[in-house]
Amino acid sequence: MAHPPRAADRERADRLPSDPDSAQPVCCNEGRWLTSRGSQWLEAALPFYRDRIYPYLIRLLGDPPPIRNVRQQIIPGAQGKVLEIGVGAGANFVHYDRQKVSKLYALEPNQGMLRLAERQRRQAALDVEFLDLSGERIPLADGAVDTVVSTFTLCTSPGVLEATREIARVLKPDGRLIFFELGVSPDPRVHRWQMRLEGIYHWLFQGLYLTRDIPALLRQGGFRIEQMEAGYIAEFPKSSSYAWWGTAILRSRSQ
Ligand SMILES: C[S@@+](CC[C@H](N)C(=O)[O-])C[C@H]1O[C@@H](n2cnc3c(N)ncnc32)[C@H](O)[C@@H]1O
Repeated sequence: MAHPPRAADRERADRLPSDPDSAQPVCCNEGRWLTSRGSQWLEAALPFYRDRIYPYLIRLLGDPPPIRNVRQQIIPGAQGKVLEIGVGAGANFVHYDRQKVSKLYALEPNQGMLRLAERQRRQAALDVEFLDLSGERIPLADGAVDTVVSTFTLCTSPGVLEATREIARVLKPDGRLIFFELGVSPDPRVHRWQMRLEGIYHWLFQGLYLTRDIPALLRQGGFRIEQMEAGYIAEFPKSSSYAWWGTAILRSRSQ
């Protein structure tokens, strides 16, 4: 029996040109380095890379001390019913305050990531329910959660504005978004490098954009930034390490 395509496959199909000979770019940043023709063999290797290599790459590179310090600073602010979008390998799980979190909905479309996250869940001893869907279609009722957490997911999610609006929908009116995201550097020289490198990062890190303005996208999606810090994450080149971290609340609440 044929299985319906998984959410991640549908999303990738949406991004790809329908005509394989069209030589249309498949990447963000106008895909200067990767045409549809050149990408055919990559497409064949992609499921293996996506499910078997990318999750380990994220686990390996995604939690060095400077990043862990920020996680330690922001994640304990989560309380009540929490939704984390794009949990990846579950690097945040150990930082939740078990006394404050009654339930954690963990959204993650990548099966390889889910396997790694399951191991982390056992160590964290949290009440976690995994949701195998994408951030653009959150399977929760309106106003279902007190906190939403996104770390390096809004900079990866293909439909970032839809995801932001979905986050606004599932948050309670007095809820809070905790974010830690990569994006566009305010330094024009670094920005130029980000533009050059975005294609390769987009492929290696499965949809990562280096040039998104996440605070602006959050405001567009109906949020007001409550508190925020920004800077380069030491250990990584400036072109791939400009980040913002903080909290945002629904604009309707703050008016
Ligand atoms: C760079 S990783 C970050 C993982 C984790 N949040 C962390 O901080 O280590 C981005 C994660 O977002 C997930 N992701 C990508 N698109 C998504 C979407 N549309 N909805 C939810 N998660 C998504 C990826 O599968 C991946 O696990």
